[in-house]
This record gives sequence, C-alpha cells and structure tokens, in this order.
Amino acid sequence: MTNPTIRFLLDDNGASLAEDVLSGLSRQPKAIPSKWFYDDRGSELFEEITSLPEYYVTRKEEEILLQRSPEIAQLSKAAELVELGAGNSEKTRALLDALSVPNNGSRLERFVLFDVSEDAVRQTAAALTTQYPQLAIEGIVGDFDHHLDEIDHSYRCLFIFLGGTIGNLNPAEREDFLTDVAFSMKPGDTFLLGTDLVKSPEHLHAAYNDAQGITADFNLNILKVINRELDANFKLDQFQHVAFWDAENSWIEMRLKSLCDQEVLIGSLNLDVSFGTGEEMRTEISTKFLSDQVASELNQAGLKVLKRWTDSERFFQLTLAQAVC
Ligand code: AVJ
Repeated sequence: MTNPTIRFLLDDNGASLAEDVLSGLSRQPKAIPSKWFYDDRGSELFEEITSLPEYYVTRKEEEILLQRSPEIAQLSKAAELVELGAGNSEKTRALLDALSVPNNGSRLERFVLFDVSEDAVRQTAAALTTQYPQLAIEGIVGDFDHHLDEIDHSYRCLFIFLGGTIGNLNPAEREDFLTDVAFSMKPGDTFLLGTDLVKSPEHLHAAYNDAQGITADFNLNILKVINRELDANFKLDQFQHVAFWDAENSWIEMRLKSLCDQEVLIGSLNLDVSFGTGEEMRTEISTKFLSDQVASELNQAGLKVLKRWTDSERFFQLTLAQAVC
C-alpha cells in the first residue's frame, strides 16, 4: 500500500466558486463565503497571521494542546485521528505524539487529514508520513459541508476541528455541521472542538486589524482569487479592509469596502456588478463563544461534553465530546 494516500472529492472547483460569486454578488448586502480565501497565497497569508502579535488565537490553542494532549489521548483512547480543516496540522503534532504512546494496549494507527486546499493536504500528508512512518496516512481534499460521510474509519476515532474555524459558520450552518459530525461518529468515538471565546472588544478588534496590515492583505486576496479563477477585474486598490466586533451576533465581521462608484466585470459569468462609494461586501464572520453555549450546541447535535479546557487567560477553549448513543 502506498503511504500517504490522497483522495480528491471536490467537483469542479471553478464551478462552485462561480455559483457562490454569482449568488453572493447578486444579493444585497453582497457577500462571498470565507472558504475562498484559501488559495496558495491565502493559506500563506493566514500562516503569517498566526504569528502576528495581535492574533492570539493560534498561540492560545497551542498552549492548551501542548498542556492537555496526554489527557485528551487518555480520554479518547483513539487509534485513529481525523482532522477536519487540517491546514498544515502544525498544532496537531502534540496530539499525534500523545496518541502514539501505547495506552492500554492500543495506540494511534491511522491519521486522516481533511481540507479544501489540495496543496495543504498533499504537503502535510507527505511531511507527516516522513515524521510518523508508523502511521497510515490518508489525505482527503474535500469540503466539510458535503463530504463528511466519505470519511470511513474502522478504529476508535477522535475527530478534531481546531483553530476556531467553526466560528466561520453561521448558527444554522453550525447546527448542520455538528449534526453531520455526530452522525459520522460510532459509539466510543470522540470529538475535539476548538472555539475562540468572547473577550474584550479591544483584543478582538486588534486581532483582526493588525498593525502590519497582513489581515487586510488576506481579506483583499479573495478578490485576486476571483480575478484569476473567474476572469474578473476587481481593482484591489479600490477596496479597503474592514473588520469590526458585532456584539449582538457575537462575531467579528470582515468586509471589503468600495472606495468609489465602480463597475466590476466577472468575465466567466458575463456579469457586471456595480459597487457604490462606501458599499461594503461581507467576506467572513468569526464567531466568539461563551463556554456554555459551546456545550449546549454540542448537546443539541447529540454530543455530550466530557471535558473542557482553556488557556491561562481564558481566551480560547477546547471541548471534548462524545456521541450519546
Ligand atoms: C482560520 C477561520 C480561524 O476566523 O480567526 C484570521 C481566519 N480571518 N484573520 C479566524 C482569519 C482573519 C481565522 N480562522
């Protein structure tokens, strides 16, 4: 058998971007789903964001994982790890190490990483195969709105969804997602969820409006993706990064603001879109949670909390849950 194996589940990527752009730019207010940030350049810019002084999210999660991975491994007793939205799986190594220590005669046999970005899946799968030669590694290029049921697992499994990425989903999407995860789990399987927590608006604002402007470049990069993939002519210097804390919805919202009255042509869609001066288009929501809300959303989906952990400042939380059967 070859290691790693890679499976590609996305249908024509161009077609689904086209659908999302067509519907997102035809409605008011305009919006583009945040999953389209992550082409090669976008993934690179996100990597840069994770080491910005203002962006605490990744560091706080890592702090918890480094401290708690042995305990998580003990509780999950997993022989298989499935990571959803894996990216470069940087933080996951602590868990891979902890699960690789024999635990009551069982230890990690298999790692499945699942992401929309083909490059991320290929590179991470290859790197981990060298680093963990004893593991069977499978990379899946897919979209977790559609392909969760394609993940087959035979051992006791720990599913993980880290980074606070669940915050990019709105409440209805979160409910669907969590229900799908619960449905994929067999008795004894566990689910580890990373959620960013509500904190002072100053901290939140700074994390999405960094001084170096990397988050602004990351936000604007979505226009480059559309220009390239859909033959569009967005002028990047005619749009401005906006990110603000929406206390009512408990999320950070990112938008791109048009700096003048302008027409944009989306060539492949034969679509002319006009933007007024000051008009804002939504590109991301990043929800911040209260600890109890995480538990109640998991419960709603049929998952029962086993344990939760936060960092020393209570900025971020990991929650381990089990399927109730
Ligand atoms: C990768 C989705 C967790 O929502 O904080 C970082 C993406 N957006 N800065 C987040 C992001 C702006 C990030 N996630």
